[in-house]
Amino acid sequence: MWKKKSLKMELKAAKKTDLKKNLTSTDLAALGIGAVLGTGIFVSTGVGAHMAGPAVVLSFIVAAITSGLCALTYAELATMFPVAGSTYTYSYIAFGEIIAWIIGWDLMLEYLVSSAAVASGWSGTFVGLLNSAGLDLPKAISVGPSAGGIIDLPAVLIVGLVTWILFIGIKESAKLNNVIVLIKIGVIVLFIVLGVFHISVANYRPFSPFGWKGVMAGASIMFFAYIGFDAVSTAAEETINPKRDVPRGLAICLGVVIVLYVAVAVVITGMVPFKEISQNNAIPDALKQFGINWGAALVGTGAVIGMISTLLVMLYGQIRVFMVMSRDGLLPKVFSKVHPVHKTPTLCTIITGSIAAIMTGLLPLEEIIKLCNIGTLFAFILVSIGVIVLRKTMPDAERKFRCPWVPFIPILTIVACVYLMTALPLETWIRFIIWLSLGLLIYFVYGRHHSILQHSKPRQYSDTNS
Ligand code: ALA
Repeated sequence: MWKKKSLKMELKAAKKTDLKKNLTSTDLAALGIGAVLGTGIFVSTGVGAHMAGPAVVLSFIVAAITSGLCALTYAELATMFPVAGSTYTYSYIAFGEIIAWIIGWDLMLEYLVSSAAVASGWSGTFVGLLNSAGLDLPKAISVGPSAGGIIDLPAVLIVGLVTWILFIGIKESAKLNNVIVLIKIGVIVLFIVLGVFHISVANYRPFSPFGWKGVMAGASIMFFAYIGFDAVSTAAEETINPKRDVPRGLAICLGVVIVLYVAVAVVITGMVPFKEISQNNAIPDALKQFGINWGAALVGTGAVIGMISTLLVMLYGQIRVFMVMSRDGLLPKVFSKVHPVHKTPTLCTIITGSIAAIMTGLLPLEEIIKLCNIGTLFAFILVSIGVIVLRKTMPDAERKFRCPWVPFIPILTIVACVYLMTALPLETWIRFIIWLSLGLLIYFVYGRHHSILQHSKPRQYSDTNS
């Protein structure tokens, strides 16, 4: 179970795909922003504000620092193994099958669960838009059981639509992504400009009603708003000069979102007493409370369009990890069978879409986000450990981007991630441990016996470190 894949073979396979190297740091930043800006800012700002009060601004900053650190360590691994795939593939080469499995299984929490979360946030905003237009959907079909409904139907339908888009193989083009990014940034700026005139300083008092504990609880939720920046590193292979473009792309992406998030947090908590900020439709609802209905409608429409691109990236990420794990034999091979016409993995796509649809239809947004965050933070801890270990075990391998001050930065990243994880409630930890245990069970019952690597000739895979 500690058997490793060969870097040489993966690189050979990567060469075969022959990706064009034409992305610049601005393209990378747009890719990152397209993935990152979504439910986190448009919707969950309300959830965070209820936990931290106006000090949710600090929560955003703590989460941003953690994300920045994670981005630095992640970028080293991504440019060291310039092969398509995510942390799962890197760890198969670097640490062996069992660790790769754990990471792959854990990544499902990042991609699959965040897809459900984004769809749930999308639904809140969409239902808000319909309300503004005088169309009230019955509660039974617009929220899940925890909010007194039966199923969140709009969320299920949007997952269905995006799954279908992915199934028929339409990929988001860089141009379309840039347009969507501009729309998202545009509506956020519009909100800031409209809202800033309605700030009342009294709403900032008390600034931190729940103390540092509240700030941390808020940060452990708001970390969600930054998830997706790893999309920047994943495209490292397609950049003109990864050494320069990846860190620049990451810096621009994180820089832009941090400024936007902090500004939104300052404005929204200044406009509305934090207890009255909507948890389903935070940003448009704040404008509506001041009677700026046209602004709410415009921002809501931009958010609804923009969140689809986040959902697309997350679902696509999940399908890709799922497919690679199945191709490696760790999950049934039939899952990765490619559709003869659409050239996409049929079963992987359908299963991913179905599970995301069930989760988003029935579970509350806040709980989904917590589960997603704990999984993602855990993945970044493993990435940071990876950076430290690989500097020792593969010192000569080319690193197109080197994380500065190793092992200090990776250790700091681990501390920051653990710190945020400890701010999550016990139930989330229990769910997370159950999830990982279930994964290990599947590995020992199925994956280990069907793994392609376990049945390969030893010579074929023995050159890991060469
Ligand atoms: N960061 C992404 C969002 O906020 C997942 O929707």
